[in-house]
Amino acid sequence: MAADKDIEKQVEELLAKMMLSEKIGQMVQINGFKGKIPDELRQKLREGKIGSMLNEIVPETSLELQRITREESRLGIPLIMGRDVIHGYRTIFPIPLAQAATWEPSLAQAAARVAAKEAAHAGFHWTFAPMMDITHDPRWGRIAEGFGEDSYLGSLFAAAMVRGFQGDNLSSPDTIAACAKHYVGYGAAEGGRDYNTAYIPENLLHDVYLPPFKAALEAGVASVMSAFNEINGVPATGNVHTIREILKERWKFDGFVVSDWNSTAEMISHGYCEDMKDVAKKSITAGIDMEMQSTAYSDYLEELVTQKVVPEELIDDAVKRILRIKFKLGLFEKPSVYSAKLPEKPDEESLALAKEIATKSIVLLKNENKLLPLLKELKSIAVIGPMADDPYEVLGTWNRDGKIEDTVTPLAAVRDMVGDNTEINYIAGLPYSRSKDTSEFAKAIKLAKKSEVVLFFAGEESILSGEAHSRAFLNLPGAQDVLITEIAKTGTPIVLIVLAGRPLCIGDIIEKVDAILYAWHPGTMCGPAIADLIFGIESPSGKLPVTFPKTEGQIPIYYNHKNSGRPPEGKSLTMIDDIPLRAYQSSLGDTSRYLDIGFEPLYPFGYGLSYTQFEYSNLRLAEDKIKVSDAIKVFVDVTNTGDMEADEVVQLYIRDLVASLTRPVKELKGFKRIRLKPNETRKINFELSASNLGFHTNEGNYIVEAGKFNLWVGGDSNAGLMTQFEIVE
Ligand code: BGC
Repeated sequence: MAADKDIEKQVEELLAKMMLSEKIGQMVQINGFKGKIPDELRQKLREGKIGSMLNEIVPETSLELQRITREESRLGIPLIMGRDVIHGYRTIFPIPLAQAATWEPSLAQAAARVAAKEAAHAGFHWTFAPMMDITHDPRWGRIAEGFGEDSYLGSLFAAAMVRGFQGDNLSSPDTIAACAKHYVGYGAAEGGRDYNTAYIPENLLHDVYLPPFKAALEAGVASVMSAFNEINGVPATGNVHTIREILKERWKFDGFVVSDWNSTAEMISHGYCEDMKDVAKKSITAGIDMEMQSTAYSDYLEELVTQKVVPEELIDDAVKRILRIKFKLGLFEKPSVYSAKLPEKPDEESLALAKEIATKSIVLLKNENKLLPLLKELKSIAVIGPMADDPYEVLGTWNRDGKIEDTVTPLAAVRDMVGDNTEINYIAGLPYSRSKDTSEFAKAIKLAKKSEVVLFFAGEESILSGEAHSRAFLNLPGAQDVLITEIAKTGTPIVLIVLAGRPLCIGDIIEKVDAILYAWHPGTMCGPAIADLIFGIESPSGKLPVTFPKTEGQIPIYYNHKNSGRPPEGKSLTMIDDIPLRAYQSSLGDTSRYLDIGFEPLYPFGYGLSYTQFEYSNLRLAEDKIKVSDAIKVFVDVTNTGDMEADEVVQLYIRDLVASLTRPVKELKGFKRIRLKPNETRKINFELSASNLGFHTNEGNYIVEAGKFNLWVGGDSNAGLMTQFEIVE
């Protein structure tokens, strides 16, 4: 790759040769025509009026579009071709939320590396990923695309994915530019309704929503995508404060910002722009460098510059940013398609990685009487449920280029795993997750009755999560719960495997089943990952990257909430049925919780069981008073007290007890995934810089205050040993 200095020189030289219309052309991105090149497109390419395309899925067409641009336009500036490669291109990895459940960012990095290679083969230089929107609302369908509710965990995953897509060198033929999205606050949509309004105070913006973007920038992300939502009344796409001031001026981001699909034009519906001309003006002023699909820039920017409403320097700055990335990608030299021939199949190594990630992402929520793993040879197993043998739905949202023929379904994997002596009694029971058709129930119940164990594959289809797919009810859709309830009556033990794009409210079903594996949407290697866990080849080790509510009424719900002045404590709170009639109000306990559901979630953030047990002991600090410039050294011993070798995710949380702005009851500040043999003890150490224990003021300034902190180390956000330390002046 050319040195940055050389690139800057090349950018300046090229810019100096460009006419205004060519400059604006670089700022225009349009959707592909699936292998077709209409005459109008050909003409625009020749005139240098298009800088980027997305979704041109035919590699040969991609090559031809690039040839026209390179050879027939005046300056021959290559196109940058984009695609949503969200959790894999051909090899589909678990959805990003599931990847976060591995608590092993290097795996997400490796998956992004595979995705980059496969996408580059098909002619793409740029992915619109990773998505790093923190959310506290599982109703929001796009929770599937991000890393959950915690900005520390989310930041590590965001940075890892950027490194995976971009590699060490953007100009290598098999690396692609990443895009940090959606900037910013998209996950804070009111009520979890997609595209909805967000109100985010400045301190929370900096403490919760911005950190993953900052981490992506530090990892060298080439581009950022503006979000659809408005923040405190100003659309994210027209937001001078977040884009121009924070991203470009304060953080010195030198890549480019692309708007989301039509998000510029939508500022008219928001009531922020009068017409498309106003859209163009407000977008460029805020710092949108490239407009995705809508046409405010191509229709109005030239006029706005000529009329001196928009200074040409703003255009120059945007174009320089885009050219900089094009040079860094080596688009001016390298053939535009890595190899126009797509691989026939995902390779073995990629599939092994997809399986490893899926295995480590699955969370064991319940395991009554150690039903799992199924170690002894069984005579018969019933495999039931609409997700048991569906090769499409388990791939999850944003599967654009994966192929269902690559998917290994749970049924296929279970069949493959058991010996000839085990009879597999399969029936879907319901044709798909939302179905209410009970016509197969009797058969399903009969099969359950004659089997030694039931593996019930429930969940939600991929279309029920993702963009514009929010749900108000988070129960298992359709008649799945009815079928599970009926099967439970047979007395055959049930292992429930949930395949879903978000936390579902499964509180009602928990008591009816013996074990639960929460498998998310695990992707191509769904079946083998689940089968390995069911039959004890590996122990579950995933941990929830998001709090599971008991019911939708508890949402928004997240572990790092504030304490309030009347925090709920213990479980002995009055519940709705215990409230006496006409009683004086104070008998209710006066604490911050719901009368009908309490305050605790169904499962806390960081939760996940194992086939073995881990014991934490000996939590100690090197020193319990440190200066702001120092680091606190934490040690803890973790012992595998069970009888199986397994992974554990050791988690460290703190609480800043008194501060000038109140702090959350817990904050994740470190974690380590370790593997221990039975009876093995490992001394784990963490080093926390005191400078990372601060927070932002309402003005957005970062401060670290002296004072006392609690510190916990344990296997989830509720459990753990506790100690204290102090930051001193
Ligand atoms: C989504 C983006 C995506 C873009 C291009 C939009 O609807 O919000 O995340 O990158 O489409 O497909």
